[in-house]
Amino acid sequence: MQKYTELLTPKNTDGEIIMGIETSCDETAVSIVKGGREVLSDVIISSATEHAVFGGVVPEIASRAHTLAIGVAVDKALKEAGLKLSDIDAFAVTEGAGLLGALLVGVSYAKALAFSEKKPLIPVSHIRGHMAAAYLADKNLRPPFVALLTSGGHTAIIEVKDYYTIEHIGSTLDDAVGESFDKVARVLGLKYPGGPNVERLAKEGKPTIKFPKMLKGKGGYNFSYSGLKTAVINYIHNAEQKGVSVKKEDVACSFQHSALDILAEKAVLATLEKGHDTLVLCGGVAANGYLREIVKTLADKKGIKTVLPEKRYCTDNGSMIAAEGYLQYKKGNFADLTLNAKANVPLC
Ligand code: KG4
Ligand code: ZN
Repeated sequence: MQKYTELLTPKNTDGEIIMGIETSCDETAVSIVKGGREVLSDVIISSATEHAVFGGVVPEIASRAHTLAIGVAVDKALKEAGLKLSDIDAFAVTEGAGLLGALLVGVSYAKALAFSEKKPLIPVSHIRGHMAAAYLADKNLRPPFVALLTSGGHTAIIEVKDYYTIEHIGSTLDDAVGESFDKVARVLGLKYPGGPNVERLAKEGKPTIKFPKMLKGKGGYNFSYSGLKTAVINYIHNAEQKGVSVKKEDVACSFQHSALDILAEKAVLATLEKGHDTLVLCGGVAANGYLREIVKTLADKKGIKTVLPEKRYCTDNGSMIAAEGYLQYKKGNFADLTLNAKANVPLC
């Protein structure tokens, strides 16, 4: 029997059309992107409200929700782009990192599509996908540049040397910044998803409380968030024990300053030290208005250009997977039908 990879028939040779499928967490996301830069459709079906009652993502619920949503999302993405399945040149899918059961839904669906259409199946790292969102934001962006990756699972400064070669500059030694937003949201009594709710509350407050800026002025380009989270918890518990009322808006605002100022400072410094003129912001926390503002202000002062993807392309989406999938397509990095989901993938 002929192998599936021998049957592949690419179609649109000028600006290949890639479908990107992302199911690593609670978003069933399917997009169609042309030439790695032009979004033709971008569909997201979220199960966040189903998880909210539990205070965080429940893997089993996420997997079941993906199973129900994936076919609908693929059909909708094709309809919005005005395309047929046979117009797609390759199917890119997040292989990891993420929740295994959730990832498996996307990986299995992408396999079936690639097999039936006789088109390449492209495994994509979720982390690289987040960085590739920058190519959607700035159609002229070319490496080298520095990327500040801020998500629920990762916090890192990365040097993007060329489209394929990335080098680690620094990262968190414990919690990720998004994770600290989610944990602080919980102690403030805010609903899942925590990050946007902390941001909303912080807008009503002032940065009056001096929480620690962990590893400020030390630790190279690394970060630490577990101490900051504990400081916020202790502050609230101490106040409760003394019967003092806490102004939650000020706690949220002060936490946000401590958590994010350090990211902007170190990322701008790293860009200067590496001799690059562009800093890319990516990952879920990059949707935070305060982070976007301070990164831009600091970078502007130093003559560094910033690329800030639209907020919907900072949090999980299929377009970033299709954008990275396009780069891998150009290199011929195809998978066969034994492709499996991975809970973890290397950062670099
Ligand atoms: O990249 P992402 O959507 O998923 C992961 O790959 O982890 O990031 C999700 C993280 C969550 O921790 C969420 O609370 C945080 O990003 N987040 C935010 C905001 N929007 C999402 N954190 C702060 N401010 C926001 N506006
Ligand atoms: Zn993500």
